[in-house]
Amino acid sequence: MSTSSSASAPREQWQSQMGFILAAVGSAIGLGNIWRFPGVAYTNGGGAFLIPYLVALLTAGVVYLLFDWALGHRYRGSAPAIFRRIHPRFEPLGWFQVGICFAIITYYAVIVAWSVRYIGFSMSRAWGDDPAGFFTGDFLRLIPSADAHITGSPVPGVFWPLVAVWAFVTLIMALGVAGGLEKMNKIFLPTLLVMFVGMVVRAVTLPGAVQGLNSFFTPDWSALTDPQVWVQAYAQIFFSLSVMFGIMVTYASYLPRRANLAPTSFVVAFSNSSFELLAGIGVFSTLGFMAARQGIAVSELEGITGPILSFVTFPQVISLMPGGQLFGVLFFGSLSLAGITSLVSLIQVVTAAVQEKFDTGRTASSVAVGLVAALASTWLYSTSNGLNMLDVVDNYVNNIGVVASAIVTVVLVVLVARRLPELHHHINDHSAQGVGKWWPLFAAVITPIVLAVMLALTILELLQKGYGDYPSWFNNAFGWGSLGTLILGSIIFSLIPWRSSVDHFRPAELAGMDPHPYEHHQNPDALTATAPQETR
Ligand code: PFF
Repeated sequence: MSTSSSASAPREQWQSQMGFILAAVGSAIGLGNIWRFPGVAYTNGGGAFLIPYLVALLTAGVVYLLFDWALGHRYRGSAPAIFRRIHPRFEPLGWFQVGICFAIITYYAVIVAWSVRYIGFSMSRAWGDDPAGFFTGDFLRLIPSADAHITGSPVPGVFWPLVAVWAFVTLIMALGVAGGLEKMNKIFLPTLLVMFVGMVVRAVTLPGAVQGLNSFFTPDWSALTDPQVWVQAYAQIFFSLSVMFGIMVTYASYLPRRANLAPTSFVVAFSNSSFELLAGIGVFSTLGFMAARQGIAVSELEGITGPILSFVTFPQVISLMPGGQLFGVLFFGSLSLAGITSLVSLIQVVTAAVQEKFDTGRTASSVAVGLVAALASTWLYSTSNGLNMLDVVDNYVNNIGVVASAIVTVVLVVLVARRLPELHHHINDHSAQGVGKWWPLFAAVITPIVLAVMLALTILELLQKGYGDYPSWFNNAFGWGSLGTLILGSIIFSLIPWRSSVDHFRPAELAGMDPHPYEHHQNPDALTATAPQETR
């Protein structure tokens, strides 16, 4: 029934602990670190933001990174397989996470394609003296948001780089976890670090950098009493660390049995945040230079976050400074590398699920996922309506889909299936230094409350005000519509029968704990002696 590379074959594995760490850090460090963190920190209290940020890092970041890793390492499967192994009725949650990742990859790849294209544009400063007009006009040929349509006309300048990105990532996926993802991260992540540090060093030596850094770090202590600031800190950590929507679960499922989970989670979380801080320093030094050149204060600058920061403000700076071309190559090169290492982690969630559900080989699953996603990605986003659609889908899928996925995961795994003590034991059984009682406390009680408040505030605001200045039918169709499609899709996919032996699995026994109270498989035959104890 199965070929040597199919899901029934021994599970793929990271070749080394370092390989896993680099892949996890590569997933965490992405566009969000470079263009999201600096602006979020600046507008939410500057230096004072670091306090809620650090609290969120420890109480949500590390806590849910470990939660994901414990699930993935213990139940060794793709997201749908893992949740099904916990309870057969939980499978739709796994598919919901796969759906979120699928939705994100279709537009994340587009931003990576823009970044790759802008490496070339930097060399010739193709935007001339109007980077804003160039980005939305010559390059994207964008329809204004208030006139957003269902489709737009094709934009070849985006289409071809996007095809190249998809060809590259599909190849990496087909080469497998160790041969593709691990090798790529081992090369890309150090390269990213060198390029980015080079960019930051140049930025801090620019005239005006000090003013930029002052405005970034000057603490506004009153921000600490604003609940919105705390919500923003948690949102940033969630987005930035890629937790609770399938990625870290999937990556941890390829760890060898012997692993060192808890200490590694601190390494990954702090590496990601250090990079984020470095990005804040680089971006605000650059903004300081720009403000000085224009003779205005940093607070008067516009375009300090998101795509506009990267594709309009940075090009302006590149044109203004001596040696700007090299600075541009370093910046857009970093953006491309950070994006690609995150993109592959998102795709792996989808590929692993398809591979296991349909028992197709690694290559076939990678090519199938690559093709379908590339088609959706080019069809939806390499058009003159692309940025509008991307903006709306991203806002709803990220701010509602990802947070809802986290809350539902906690409710199902912790409250309904009562697996928290088991996961806690698993972490401590697989860590040189375990975690104390604070871990279940934050995982099950405190952080879910913060997340629920966050979700309620977001939904309320979107229902009342809509999003951006898009027509409301557009927000409804592509924002709420994407979420509805994800829910429907997860139910439909759960109804399709598995072609691999997903239920023939039993988690390893835990030292000092009887695992049986937690086991209720729908098929007791699956637990007979003939069933493998666990796939490797
Ligand atoms: N953590 C990565 C980033 O900060 O860009 C990857 C990622 C997270 C991508 C969340 C997309 C996303 F919605």
